[in-house]
Amino acid sequence: MRQPLVIGNWKMNGSLAFTSELLHTLEDRIDDKISCEVGVCTPFVYIKLATELTANSVIKVGAQTVSEFKAGAYTGEVSALMLKELGADWVLVGHSERRTLFNEVNAALVQKVLAAQSAGLTPVYCMGETEADYKSGHTFSVIADQIGALLDSDDVDLNNLVLAYEPVWAIGTGLTATPDEAQKVHAFIRTLVKEKNIKSAEGLRILYGGSVKPDNALSLFGQDDIDGGLIGGASLDADAFISICQQA
Ligand code: PGA
Repeated sequence: MRQPLVIGNWKMNGSLAFTSELLHTLEDRIDDKISCEVGVCTPFVYIKLATELTANSVIKVGAQTVSEFKAGAYTGEVSALMLKELGADWVLVGHSERRTLFNEVNAALVQKVLAAQSAGLTPVYCMGETEADYKSGHTFSVIADQIGALLDSDDVDLNNLVLAYEPVWAIGTGLTATPDEAQKVHAFIRTLVKEKNIKSAEGLRILYGGSVKPDNALSLFGQDDIDGGLIGGASLDADAFISICQQA
């Protein structure tokens, strides 16, 4: 039985005051009676504050990207060990905004997954097809390519990994894949992981992301292979985020 997981992706939003207010509210209202695991991925600069504010709660903090390098002359980068030292547990890798706006490619993303794992973080590896891929019927081949890069590496620990399927056309647009469409892609992803390792595939959590809101969460999370959500816009609103966590 996989424990559902809901992770908020704040993207480049917030301030010190916003971080403190939202996390105080979440900490008050999300306790160990909630059956899903809950995470928030804040901008780097708020991670320390976030880990301090959530130290006595079930909420775990993460980052939104990480360097593939350990240390050295990489101006502007943040290493996995630095994130770990601040108390982070998760890190998103390969979010579509990183892939499209910052040209992050599969080969580098696999290195980021490895860097995160070796520092003791759990990477959340994101995949998804663009609107053009979707309309031309290429969803499954795009996903096979993105997950394939990860599965080709024998060094990736499939037992310390979360996957997220986020159709790019659904992110921040108010559009979502139907529960049935999303389930088909999630089942496909799990089948590919199974070909590599059946046991890991059964325990692996695959999140859905892309305009998940309180009014569509239940129908998505009710699907067999959807183990929770990666939540952008709605994670900035305490009521909406808590409702989504409760539905998971
Ligand atoms: P959204 O973003 O929920 O605002 O669509 C999801 C994401 O980008 O992870």
